[in-house]
Amino acid sequence: MTTRRFIIDTDTASDDAVAIVMALQWPDVEVDAITVVYGNMPLKIASANARYSVEICGKETPVYEGCAHPLLRSVAHADWFHGPYGMGKLGELHPQRPAAGQNAVAELIRRFGEAPGEITLVTLGPLTNIAAALIVEPRLAEWVKECYIMGGAANCVGNVTPAAEFNIWCDPEAARIVFHSGMKCLMVGWEHCRFDSALSFEEMAAIRALDTPLAHFALDCNSYALEAGMTIQGASGLMLPDPVTMAIALDNRVCTRRSRHYVDVACAEELTRGMTVVDELNVTGHKPNMEVCWEIDKPLWKEILAQTLR
Ligand code: BDR
Ligand code: CA
Repeated sequence: MTTRRFIIDTDTASDDAVAIVMALQWPDVEVDAITVVYGNMPLKIASANARYSVEICGKETPVYEGCAHPLLRSVAHADWFHGPYGMGKLGELHPQRPAAGQNAVAELIRRFGEAPGEITLVTLGPLTNIAAALIVEPRLAEWVKECYIMGGAANCVGNVTPAAEFNIWCDPEAARIVFHSGMKCLMVGWEHCRFDSALSFEEMAAIRALDTPLAHFALDCNSYALEAGMTIQGASGLMLPDPVTMAIALDNRVCTRRSRHYVDVACAEELTRGMTVVDELNVTGHKPNMEVCWEIDKPLWKEILAQTLR
């Protein structure tokens, strides 16, 4: 079996943690490194959460800390959604190993530069680290084999404003840099964790019944997110945007409809800040710059999740 190499960029809180576990547990994937960005949590808390997620899998994947704030905007966090330390009822986590370094941006450039075309990038947070790396080294765009982006909402409802999804809203200028960099990207919008893609209470019970440390971890660290999703966003179960994106990166069959489009990010007005505008009908005539995921295989995504928590 040939091994696929991944690097994960994450603002680790509850759903990021599950996505990290999935990648670390997947048989044909080796996670070379994890780079952390502010976002759901301040950088240091996100870093501790990422390192704890690595340790609970029994791995030693290096975790690098990167940008602590967006390129231009004020920093904002989502403790109101994920809990004070981002990990639900687990509270503050104390991993044993320190961060491998504070130089995530340089590490991204170094690692992709040493293996051009070989490593897949999965982004689960604001795109600040990736944009900063592209500013320093534009060739990063061609060095990345493919990039799976959890971010945006393809011409549909946002979760932090009516128009925007959190990761893109946090740093719209960074997202714009990445989207227009020439990197081969698949945008997996927030809509793919809603409705039937959310875990029902029966499905959560089935995961709990696995009775493994990882299954308990996955549910416990999402206890706040479950409540918040149901209360604030009208969900009927647990929405897991980062794990859905990771499932697609692990097994491409999870994305059942995708197509290439010109996609831009609204940066000018506060009302539409961070909106991902997909030119679905090619009315602008601009050359497509992104691939967009439109539909997923919901049973397959949930099967992949369960498989990694056994
Ligand atoms: C995204 O924002 C964060 O709260 C989640 O971790 C996910 O990456 C969903 O909008
Ligand atoms: Ca995230």
